[in-house]
Formats: sequence, C-alpha cells, structure tokens
Amino acid sequence: MAGGVTGGGSATWSDRFEQGLHPAIERFNASIGFDITLLQEDLDGSVAHARMLADCGVIDQAEADQLCSGLEQIRAEAAAGSFNPGIDDEDVHFAVERRLIALRGPVGKKLHTGRSRNDQVGTDLRLWLRRRIDELDPLVRLFQTALLRQALDHRNTLIPGYTHLQRAQPVCLAHHLLAYVEMLERDRQRFEDVRKRVNCSPLGAAALAGTPVPINRHSTAAALDFEGIYANSLDAVSDRDFAVEFSAAASLLMVHLSRLAEEVIFWASEECGFVRLSDRCATGSSLMPQKKNPDVPELVRGKCGRVFGHLQGLLTMIKGLPLAYNKDFQEDKEALFDVVNTSFQCLEAMTILIEEGLSFRPDRLEAAVGSDFSNATDVADYLVARQVPFREAYQIVGSVVKQCLSDGLLLRDLSLERWRQFHPSIDADLFDALAPRQVVAARLSEGGTGFARVEEQLALWSDRLGLANH
Ligand code: ARG
Repeated sequence: MAGGVTGGGSATWSDRFEQGLHPAIERFNASIGFDITLLQEDLDGSVAHARMLADCGVIDQAEADQLCSGLEQIRAEAAAGSFNPGIDDEDVHFAVERRLIALRGPVGKKLHTGRSRNDQVGTDLRLWLRRRIDELDPLVRLFQTALLRQALDHRNTLIPGYTHLQRAQPVCLAHHLLAYVEMLERDRQRFEDVRKRVNCSPLGAAALAGTPVPINRHSTAAALDFEGIYANSLDAVSDRDFAVEFSAAASLLMVHLSRLAEEVIFWASEECGFVRLSDRCATGSSLMPQKKNPDVPELVRGKCGRVFGHLQGLLTMIKGLPLAYNKDFQEDKEALFDVVNTSFQCLEAMTILIEEGLSFRPDRLEAAVGSDFSNATDVADYLVARQVPFREAYQIVGSVVKQCLSDGLLLRDLSLERWRQFHPSIDADLFDALAPRQVVAARLSEGGTGFARVEEQLALWSDRLGLANH
C-alpha cells in the first residue's frame, strides 16, 4: 500500500489520490530505510509538540497524555525490536504517526495539528546531529589524550623534522605529536561553533509559511533544549547550512587524522623504521609471510574520500533549490549519517592506533637524527653569533656541506683544523652546537621545539586534558 498515514485500506495520501504508487516508485520515494535512525528524535519532537498543543489549548491535556503515552509505547516497542516499519510507511514520521493512530485510535490523528513533515524532519535532524556533536567532543579529547600520553613519554626523544619530505632539522618527538593536539583542538572549537547553528528550532514553521493554529514555538524549542527559533518559516524548513557546516568541520577532522595516518605509514616503512606496529593494530599478508601492514591508517586515509564527497554532495544538492522545502532534502540524511559514522569510526581507530597500536623506536630515531646534515643551519647560526652576516655564514656552510658530501663525511666528522679553514672564528665548542640534542634544545623561540618550550606545552596540555604530567 502506498502512503496514506491513516491507512485503513486507503491506498492514497488524501482523498485527492485515486491510485496507489507504482511499487518501484514507492521504493524510490521511501526514506524509512535510513531515516529510522531519527526515531528517538522524532518521538522527542512529537512529545514536545503534543504537550505544547495542550498548553496552548489546541487539544485537551488528557488527549496530550494519550498521545505522549502512545509515543512512549512506540519507543518501548522499538527498544524491544517490535517496531519495524516497512516501505509502505514511507518515512519515520509517517511510520510513527500511523502506529500512534493504531495504538490510540482517533486521538492519534490530532498529533499533526499545526505541524508539517517539513519542520518535523528539520527538527529531528538537528536534534540528532546535536547529540552526535555532544558525543564527538569527548572522543576528540580522548584522541588528544592518547597523543599527549605518547608526547609525555617522548619528551626527550628526537625525530627528523622535514620540509618537502627532505630532512630539515631535528625536532623533539613530543613537539611533533603536540602539533596534532593543536589541530584537534581547532576541530573541537569548530564543532562547538557549528553546534550553535544546529541548535535552533524550525518546529512550528509548518509546511513553509507558519500556521494559523495558535501554537507556541518557544515552548517546543525550550522543551527540546534549542537555544532559539528560526525567525523566518521559509528559511526554517529549507536551511541545511548546518549539515554542510558539520560536514566541512568533519572533513577537516578527517584531514588531520589522514595526515597523521600518512606519517604513521611512512614511519612504519622499512625505509624509515621509526615505529613498530603492534599486532593489535596491524594485519598480515595472505601471500608474503614477512609482512605487517598498516591497514588502520591506510583505511583512515582512504575514508577521507567519503567524507569530502558527502560535503560536495550536500553543497551540490542544495545549490539550486528554490524556497522552500524540496524533496531533494531527503538526500541530506544518508550523507550526514555517513559523515558522522565515518568520522566517529576513524577517530576511534586512530585513538587505538596511537594508544596501543604503535611504539616508537628510539634507537632508529637516534640513528636517523645523527646521520644527516640537519644541523647545518646551526653552524650558520654559530657563525652569526660570531658576527658573521647570516648570508655569508649560509654560503660558508653550503661549501662545507658540499665538501663533506664529496668526502662521504658528516659535519661532526670534520676536524677543528679543517673547520678553521672554512672560518677562523670557529672553536671546539662548535661540536656541542652540532649535536642533535643541542640543535633541538637551542630552539627556544616561542612555539619552538626547544625542550624547555615543549615542557611548557606538555604542562599546559596535561592541565587542559586532566592528565598527570609524569
Ligand atoms: N522523508 C522526508 C525527508 O526526508 C520528510 C519530509 C517530507 N516532506 C514532504 N513534503 N514530502 O525530507
């Protein structure tokens, strides 16, 4: 049977329709397959609406009681697994209303007074997304905490720092990890900001133009914990900016997860060998027995495509829509649900990966930072401290590096005499300045990788995330 919320053998929406939907079109039109996700929110919104109708004298209190107890019964049936609407219910809103009428009889038919599925679906979706945002925040903090724990363990570990993926200057590993903590903090702020615009009630905008029924939009908004109401009914039912904004914020979260994922993949490579993947988070090859694959970070990197794609999909879906509601909006749900599911899953997987999926290899890292020319800038800085103009110092060190490369030597291998041939002001203390640990320690500018600076940041983040700075 197609549509028709009152059911009872009628195969039509209202008496205006004479024929039922073509079965394929019925399937094509239905959203119940995915919008059942909004069931709790649909029930919450309906309870608030029913109470408000009674408070405004539109229905009796006794009728509101019947409606609300019926709605709670549907919630209980769903929890027990016995509420299973089908395609003929079209969407979650019709499914609930139809079940309510079946449970409570004619009074059930009063629920939809002064309301449309257009403001209803907008209400449900905002309530649902607001809940997910509230769940996301502690998950982001857990991930930051996992990063911070590793950072605290590696406050004295060095790792090559790169630009252009060429060895540049060594950095403190904690500093590197804290960079991600900072990115994630911006993600938290963005979600918090999006939440403000999600948290506005469209309920009572009705189909598009408001309603002559004497409703009170502020009371439903307050009952549902919305911070305010949409001022314009047309805007209320056709605004999906919040879905785009959330997907954009989630896309940036995915970018951050993916960049770290890429680093882990690189670090775990034979060429690098900076981390060892634990058995809990790595997989084997069906053919090559020696292999241990970084599937977790690879999947996170790969899943970015979905989230970015949904953002693009939503923008495209909305851009040509005239006011007000258009059925195109039904397409927002699967996109938003998948953005939420994917980002939650990736966040969880990356948290586990950082917590117990990898261990840094200090021996390999130590060897890496000691075997390159990433201390070359420090020789130039050393000369600058001896009154050599920077550009001149830079040229001198350039020729030293060139010489070393052709002799197969590192900077620390040159004798003091040899150094003095390049510049007479060089003394034996140059060798201290060249040591990777000193190279890192010296970078004490604010925000720099100098150990003392990193300690300040570790203290700050331990405080913010409530972690003991051991
Ligand atoms: N299933 C619809 C959606 O997801 C609900 C709103 C339907 N409104 C309408 N006028 N057909 O958008």
